[in-house]
Parts: sequence; structure tokens; C-alpha cells
Amino acid sequence: MLIKNPLSWQLKENQATPETIYKQRRDIVKKLGLAAAITPFTSNAQASLFDVFSAKKDPVAVMDPRQDLVGRPSSLSTSDLELTPEPKVLTYNNFYEFGSSKGQPAELAKGFETRPWTIEITGEVAKSVTLDIDDVMKNMMIEERIYRHRCVEAWSMNVPWLGFTLASLLKLVKPTSKAKYVAFETLYDPKKMPGQASYSLGGGIDYPYVEGLTIEEAMNPLTLMTVGLYGKTLAPQNGAPLRLIVPWKYGFKGIKSIVKIHLLEQQPPTTWNLLAAEEYGFYANVNPNVDHPRWSQASERFIGEGSLFSSRRQKTLMFNGYGEQVASLYKNLDLTKNY
Ligand code: MTE
Repeated sequence: MLIKNPLSWQLKENQATPETIYKQRRDIVKKLGLAAAITPFTSNAQASLFDVFSAKKDPVAVMDPRQDLVGRPSSLSTSDLELTPEPKVLTYNNFYEFGSSKGQPAELAKGFETRPWTIEITGEVAKSVTLDIDDVMKNMMIEERIYRHRCVEAWSMNVPWLGFTLASLLKLVKPTSKAKYVAFETLYDPKKMPGQASYSLGGGIDYPYVEGLTIEEAMNPLTLMTVGLYGKTLAPQNGAPLRLIVPWKYGFKGIKSIVKIHLLEQQPPTTWNLLAAEEYGFYANVNPNVDHPRWSQASERFIGEGSLFSSRRQKTLMFNGYGEQVASLYKNLDLTKNY
């Protein structure tokens, strides 16, 4: 990334420690049996898109910013690392459409409207569709996935995301045999996203921000279409209303505020690779053995309790600790060349 020094921004200590509250909220949800009540259509894999999304609209739409949202606990969650305090996840952000330094997105994305919001799914699919975000949220099975979140800039977090698998969404549109890659696109609206209107604020990116995965990566059960964090819908600065989280890859693959998903035969262009190909590859798998040309990737600054200055360093894990689930995807690939 074009590193900006985050030292000007710092959380006050009294803003931290939200996870006690968060844990209480989870306990209440469990006691009330609410987790079981949000199980829309796992067993409904055969349902057609028409059946699933033509259901009558719920009068109480799921609105941002930050409505309560419940997800089923997942066995894929990290269990051996403390959570990053919620205020830090909400204020230490990269979202260049709202400014290229760390505190800016939380400030400049205030009031960013995420309704109405549609997601187009096109390309190598049985039928292209345009889906309304509230219909998607009502019909997909929302899980809570606590994942390690590792930025290419060598900082990391551990975040309780809420979302549904990308695989479950793609299965609905039935990818054709030609679908080898999945491309994603962020909203392009310079009136709402000041970084798109200003070259300096937006870090020199040629917008819209675009990302991509291979179809195997997209269908991996870890790959999460994310709609919330810490028991609530996403804040604008974290990519509301819908973003991607691919926990074994550097954070820049986690494209925010998605409006388009396109399945295709050729590898799609990706924003950071277009900007600096020798620094940011298409794969971007977390790899402590392949350094960034300007810094080591062997360790990372974990953002946890306490001030950012005192955050501890920890070893970076191969595939960010998810090797068991994903190493086989890359068995025939030279990871030093395909970084
Ligand atoms: N998506 C868009 N559209 N624009 C961005 O600037 N930054 C990426 C990724 N997704 C970015 C984006 C980077 S570099 C990282 S590390 C993560 O979002 C940060 O996500 P977070 O702010 O929720 O931690």
C-alpha cells in the first residue's frame, strides 16, 4: 500500500474493551434462541432464484448504519486469539474512496447512504440477476465468523464478521463451466465517495476499485460475503452494506461496498495490481516467506487492547493460519512468482 503514517490518529483507552458487552449480547441471543430463528435457506439449496428472492418484502428492512444482526456461531472461527476491540475495527480503516489515511474513512463515510442498494451478478452464469441487499440479507444464512484479518501493510486484527458464504450466493446463479474467475466492483459515485472525486484524497487509484478471485477461491467455504461485524450490520467505513472477506489473503482483496459480481473465463484486473504490479499480486495470499519489496512480511503488528504505539508484534502465519483449508488450492503454483 502507499503507506500513510497512522500516528496522528490514536484511540482513547476508554473507548476500548467492547467485547465484554459483545459477549453479553451473544449470550442473550443464545438464551432467547434467536440464533436458530435466522436460518432461512440452508436446507433450501434446490430453491430457484425466483422462489428465494420473490418472497414478500419484510416491512422492517435491514437498514444501515449498524442495526443489530445475529449470526450462527461457526466452527471455522478463530479460537486462539483475542478479539480486536470494536472501536479500533471501526476507526483504523483502509477505504480509499473515503480518504487514504487511517482515521479518514470513519469521518468521511459518515452518512454514506447504503439504501437502496443492489448487487448485479452477471457473466458466466445460467441467468444474470440484480438482487436487492435486503432480500439477500433476509434469505441467506448469516453466520458469525471470527477471522484473522491481515493487511499487506503488516498490521493485523481478529474480527467477528457476520456474513454468508460466497459459494451459497454463486450456487444460486449457477456458474457455467466457463466461469474460471469471479470479479468484484465497488460502487462508483464520486458525489458520495469523495476519494473518487479527488486524486489526492483517493490515493491516485483509478476507480472503481476492482478485485478478483479464482472460482475455486470463491467457492471455498472460508470465503465470506460480509454484511456485519460485532453483532451489527457493517459501518460505512468497513464496507457497508456488503464486502468480501477472504481470510487467508491480504486485506486489500476484501473489496468493500460491492455493487457488481461478474463471472468470467479470464483473470480480471485488480486495483492494487494495476497500481503497482511488482508489489501487489493477483493472489495476495498471506505469506511470511515472501516479503513485500519494501518491508518484511514475516511478522505483523497485532491491533488489540492498548494504544496503537504499544501493539505487540506476532509471527505471521502461512495463509494467515488457514493452510489446512486452502493450501491445496496452490499446490501447483510457485508462490514466490504468484504473490
Ligand atoms: N475496498 C475498497 N473499495 N477500497 C479500499 O480502499 N481497502 C482494502 C480493503 N477493501 C479498500 C477496500 C484494504 S487495503 C484493506 S486492508 C481492507 O479493505 C481494510 O478493511 P477494514 O478497514 O474493514 O479493516
